[in-house]
Amino acid sequence: MIARVVDQDGNAKRREREAIMTDDRYVPGLENVIASETNISYLDVEAEQIVLRGYDLIELARSVSYVEVAGLLLNGSLPDGKGRDLLEEQLSAASAIPDAIYDILAHVPAGTHRMDALRTAISALAGFDGELEDHSAEANGRKAIRLLAKVPGLVVNGHRILSGQPVIETRGDLSFAGNFLFMLTAKVPEPLEERIFDQSLIAYSEHELPNSTFAARVIASTMSDMYGAVAGAVSSLKGYLHGGANEAVMAMLGEAATPGELEAVMLGKLARKERIMGFGHRVYMRKPDPRALLMKEALARLAEAKGRQDLYEMCDAGEAVMKREKGLYPNLDYYAAPVYALLGIPVPLFTPVFLAARTAGLCAHVSEQHAGNRLFRPRVSYTGPRGLRLS
Ligand code: SDX
Repeated sequence: MIARVVDQDGNAKRREREAIMTDDRYVPGLENVIASETNISYLDVEAEQIVLRGYDLIELARSVSYVEVAGLLLNGSLPDGKGRDLLEEQLSAASAIPDAIYDILAHVPAGTHRMDALRTAISALAGFDGELEDHSAEANGRKAIRLLAKVPGLVVNGHRILSGQPVIETRGDLSFAGNFLFMLTAKVPEPLEERIFDQSLIAYSEHELPNSTFAARVIASTMSDMYGAVAGAVSSLKGYLHGGANEAVMAMLGEAATPGELEAVMLGKLARKERIMGFGHRVYMRKPDPRALLMKEALARLAEAKGRQDLYEMCDAGEAVMKREKGLYPNLDYYAAPVYALLGIPVPLFTPVFLAARTAGLCAHVSEQHAGNRLFRPRVSYTGPRGLRLS
């Protein structure tokens, strides 16, 4: 049987499969398969809208702060001014990290990938949460705040400890986004920098059922705990086909200094049948990622403020190359990477920052899975031998 994959424009893309499939219920990569029911978010590709609990993510990014979006994701409704301030206080008050976690990080190899260090820290943190095995909505809500509050410090100080630098303390006088960017760069951000970073956290906060969120829901569906589910999502997100792409984009941009040089780099990769990081998307495929457009605008503003229009022009030219050569659009990672570079964020922390922002969405999905659970246990299309006898 030839598996036919039809993209959202209805164009049938035949995928020749060597193995004869024994069951037409098998969909490689679960492409376009509905695997969960949720009221958290939905990608309306036709309308080119990312729906977060009924709101348009891009409108949220232009109007409110990440902390308000985190409140929307975790509690189901946008907090008012008082609610936002309370959430900021709760996150600041819960940001302290047990010394034992930093002791553990001091004993992992200095060259450890920063997503592996983050995963290790989140796993170890589980033992410090007295409500770990309480999967009620109330306990999960409190755990989500404690986790979200600590992830920025785990991201930054995991990196600093592995780099032989002293840990940096949280600044309680700054907003969640302002403090996170301060910790990442050891510099109090300018208002424009903080606003753009805050927008990037909203862009990364939640995106329906990507591989990492699916991984978290699969783990939570055994009634395992929120920390373990998020740790599983960290492992998934590290992959360069997924969250690791933003660091890979920066590596590619670092190979060029002009639009012409970037075009040559990209054409070389395409000629070698390599994937160009930051382009394409399983759901958007031949449609633009609304978040990429948002981050492209942010890059334009930041590049102008920092006199780096050259970087913006090079990225814009790279986008045109992929549209011309492959009919593909950039995804969020393509423009988030140069934005993070201009903000002074170390490249090895690009994907950990993505995870930190996505923690709000992940915890919302874990809570939803626990609240209305059905164990995930799919079947296989077996293509191996049968009937073999020992002798
Ligand atoms: C994220 O799911 C989410 O929502 C994820 C995310 C989130 O917020 O959680 O949006 C975050 O992970 C964004 C994606 C980041 N990854 C990358 O930028 C890595 C590069 N992208 C590709 O590897 C790819 O586009 C994927 C993995 C994102 C999607 O791959 P699919 O759906 O499996 O598509 P495919 O491999 O079947 O490709 C379809 C066609 C192929 O051409 P043909 O073989 O049919 O001729 O498109 C081509 C591919 O060769 N193609 C690319 C390409 N992406 C697809 N060609 C070159 N470069 C690319 N990046």
